[in-house]
Amino acid sequence: MKGLILSGGKGTRLYPITFTRAKQLVPVANKPVLFRVIEAIRDAGIDEIGIVIGDTGDEIRQAVGNGRRWDVTIRYIEQEAPLGLAHAVKISQDFLGDDRFVMFLGDNVIEGGISPLIRQFADSGWNSQVVLTEVDHPQQYGVAELDNERRIVRLVEKPRNPPSNLALVGIYMFDANIFQAVNSIKPSWRGELEITDAIQWLVDQGCQVHPYIHRGWWIDTGKHIDLLEANNRVLAELTHRTEGYVDRDSKLDHLVTVERGAEVINSVVRGPAIIGEDCRIINSYVGPFTSIYHDTVVEDSEIEHSIVLDHSRIVGIPSRIEDSIIGRDVEITFSPIKPKAYKMTLGDHSKVGLL
Ligand code: DAU
Repeated sequence: MKGLILSGGKGTRLYPITFTRAKQLVPVANKPVLFRVIEAIRDAGIDEIGIVIGDTGDEIRQAVGNGRRWDVTIRYIEQEAPLGLAHAVKISQDFLGDDRFVMFLGDNVIEGGISPLIRQFADSGWNSQVVLTEVDHPQQYGVAELDNERRIVRLVEKPRNPPSNLALVGIYMFDANIFQAVNSIKPSWRGELEITDAIQWLVDQGCQVHPYIHRGWWIDTGKHIDLLEANNRVLAELTHRTEGYVDRDSKLDHLVTVERGAEVINSVVRGPAIIGEDCRIINSYVGPFTSIYHDTVVEDSEIEHSIVLDHSRIVGIPSRIEDSIIGRDVEITFSPIKPKAYKMTLGDHSKVGLL
């Protein structure tokens, strides 16, 4: 089998964090979501992976490289514009050939990996397997309707009146019949070639599309709140380790990772939390569900339930920072010098909550 990861698209819902960066490279528990996807595919025994890239392709190529780090080979497939998930399959036909393959959306995180799913599909005669899970707001997803014998009868993309609460998780398995499907469908009202329409085509042609109901958690990290939620889940599951320096005046929970080159000085870190490479945490409190990416300084401040990206500085903040996503190279400081005022340089689409 081969793997196909979709990492095109623009990530507008994660602005401003994704203004200058691919949304698939935003780290969750200090590892880009895309790297987690590559590892899940590799762990399922697949070593040939194609990555569909768009506007942010250069950044993705630079971060992922040729795949040697994961013992896989990576081929990049350029998509001229985000014309839909089925369009991404269409342009990947050369790479995929006649092989059965798994398609994984590059911004999805799923509990427990995909190894059992891949095994099940590889051993079956099914033409396709789709992963479904129960969600609270099916309107935001592709939705499946099953009959009494749990066979798929209908699939609709982001329906106003959902026929069920079973959403399509961003993981799909196909055989070569999918190419006929993607070549037969027409763009939807939003101008995209929808994968739901392509799967519906398979169902209508009598192909066997097996619905797998996923019972664990699954998160599409496309929105802020989901990113923090994914961070919580992954942090809680990590095997934690201390590779950096922690001085004697600091207190660390056992669910805390301190990565190589990081220093924790006179601080309290409550897990689950991760302090990235070469970070400095000084006279501070880092609370549960916080990920601080590499080369960031937190000094005389308190932060919890947040994600901080690399090369940022949070210094002398008098009240606790919570539920926040802080980008790269950001400075948050406090100055006692009068006049008392907030001084900000905020990028477009920034959001700040002040007391
Ligand atoms: O997350 C699950 C949902 O993913 C499914 O329930 C929906 O049926 C499916 O259409 C998809 O919906 P989204 O609106 O979340 O898709 P999004 O546009 O966010 O794209 C998902 C990933 O695929 C993302 O990593 C970007 C990439 N992509 C997207 C498009 C439209 C491409 O590489 N090329 C594209 O043309």
